Amino acid sequence: MQALSAYHTVFQNYLTENDFSYEPKELYEPVNYILGIGGKRLRPLLALMGCELFSKNINRALPIAMAVEVFHNFTLLHDDIMDDAPLRRGKPTVHVKYNINTGILSGDVMLILAYHFLQSTEGSVTMTHKLWAIFNKMAREVCDGQQMDMNFESRNDVTLSEYIKMIELKTSVLIAAAFEMGAVAGGASLKQAAPLYEFGKNVGIAFQIQDDLLDTFGDPATFGKKVGGDIVQNKKTFLVLKTFELANSAQKTALTILMATPTHDELAKITAVRTIFEALNVQQHAERAMDDYLQLAFAALDETTLSGAKKTYLKEWANELNMRRK
Ligand code: IPE
Ligand code: IPE
Ligand code: MG
Ligand code: MG
Ligand code: MG
Repeated sequence: MQALSAYHTVFQNYLTENDFSYEPKELYEPVNYILGIGGKRLRPLLALMGCELFSKNINRALPIAMAVEVFHNFTLLHDDIMDDAPLRRGKPTVHVKYNINTGILSGDVMLILAYHFLQSTEGSVTMTHKLWAIFNKMAREVCDGQQMDMNFESRNDVTLSEYIKMIELKTSVLIAAAFEMGAVAGGASLKQAAPLYEFGKNVGIAFQIQDDLLDTFGDPATFGKKVGGDIVQNKKTFLVLKTFELANSAQKTALTILMATPTHDELAKITAVRTIFEALNVQQHAERAMDDYLQLAFAALDETTLSGAKKTYLKEWANELNMRRK
């Protein structure tokens, strides 16, 4: 395996070679904008690492790396409209910088571009069929999860297990599929790739819990998104659901009222909700839950026949990921 920066460089070069300077520019300029403002590139990294577990030639997975990153960024364009989010990676979101219609159509074209890259993966018909099947299943599940997330905004009886299902769908299946598809492109059989999907899925669940944590407790200077956005939108995050599980009746009533009342003063609402979270230490509960999912991820990895060195590399990578600040 290579240093993480080496995978990043390989992907970045491929992205530069394949920039989207097409006409009409009103459609493609936002595509270059969102892809150009960076991001952690987690999903392409996983595709390349997954490939390298089975092949010396990680270039085979570059179209997949691109497909998953472009798909991810498509979901962000539409998610930011749905979540009324002003900031992404420290910059104005596409629908704020341009307009909502641009966010919709540039997002749509990114979904098509993602398929274009997937289609350009070289390999046998059997292998490419496997990739299509993984990608299509994942893409539909992300929509299912995203709809659940929206439905939960106006519900006050969401359970933690419903929440876990929702984040598995909206977030972790893409992380899992990126890793699995990379492995398949590198020559892994579906049987060999299955535990890698499990690894990615559990890392992805921990990753989304961390995203919830950062949304409320992150440092605005580094987070890159609007801190408190989930509270304003009444998102049923891990923090909210754990609070309902642990709160006394006064705290439950306070949180219920805060979420039922139209927001006039965002900052006051964010501060009040955060104070309830802090009183119940839900932050620590979230960290414990993340750790539990990481252990499940590691157990999946231990089921593989990968070398000890590769397993250690992936475990260290997952631990680092969950200490992120953005
Ligand atoms: C944001 O994903 C959406 C979630 C699933 C939490 P990332 O945190 O990977 O976003 P970027 O690509 O690094 O900006
Ligand atoms: C991410 O959910 C899921 C998708 C984009 C499909 P969030 O709404 O939590 O992602 P961020 O926090 O806006 O990045
Ligand atoms: Mg969302
Ligand atoms: Mg969002
Ligand atoms: Mg979020």
